[in-house]
Amino acid sequence: MGIQSAAFEVGASRRMTRQLVIGNWKMHGSIGKIRSVLPELARAKLGSNVAVCIPYPYVMLAKSLLKDSQVQVGAQDVSEYHVGAYTGAVSASMLADIGCELVIVGHSERRRYFGESSENAARKLRACLDAGLFPVYCVGEDADERASGQHKEIIAAELAVLRGLPIGLYAVAYEPSWAVGTGVIATSAQIAEMHAFIKETLEPRTRVLYGGSVKGSNAEEVLAVDGVDGVLVGGAALSASEFLEICMAAR
Ligand code: PGA
Repeated sequence: MGIQSAAFEVGASRRMTRQLVIGNWKMHGSIGKIRSVLPELARAKLGSNVAVCIPYPYVMLAKSLLKDSQVQVGAQDVSEYHVGAYTGAVSASMLADIGCELVIVGHSERRRYFGESSENAARKLRACLDAGLFPVYCVGEDADERASGQHKEIIAAELAVLRGLPIGLYAVAYEPSWAVGTGVIATSAQIAEMHAFIKETLEPRTRVLYGGSVKGSNAEEVLAVDGVDGVLVGGAALSASEFLEICMAAR
């Protein structure tokens, strides 16, 4: 069963659904690094609730290294356009063609460094659905927005673009940008509050992942929080042992 059908399962029976563990390699890695980490994941006999989103050039290598495992392979971005003269862009159908199963869209780093809006991300999300890919849509407030108590407003605005999209065909990742790559993880109370808010705003069955400084040492605590349907893992996904520790904590 793939990530997508695992997501479908939420509607049928919440108890049967495994928490997702998705690694986001960002712009890290090399052929050597991929060849050292992914075979270790393959040997660990992980389920299809685990995925790695790696840089485009290594997707096909990752597919071949993981071919005897259930671990899914994803990308970290995609074009909002389907086909045509868009130099430098990669379409959702190309990703599907090379065996990708999921794509991260609207990550805070895409928003911050590449000027992406929620509207761009929503178009990317639709392109993924058209190509049969499972999109993971990221939302999150920054430190100032949290300090001034605007966090729910910010998330609500980021979620507004998802209205009308079929629940079960995508997941949302709550990633406060002050927790991404900083080593400062959100508290369990903050995570529970925001996951509940996202589910109330969209639909209670929406799968919501937490991301931001998840490590082997805190994964169990995060994954035990009410409303957490999985984790999106950055830095800790680059170490096989650390990532495996997180996978083992998934219920
Ligand atoms: P981090 O990144 O785990 O390194 O904080 C998470 C993410 O950006 O998805």
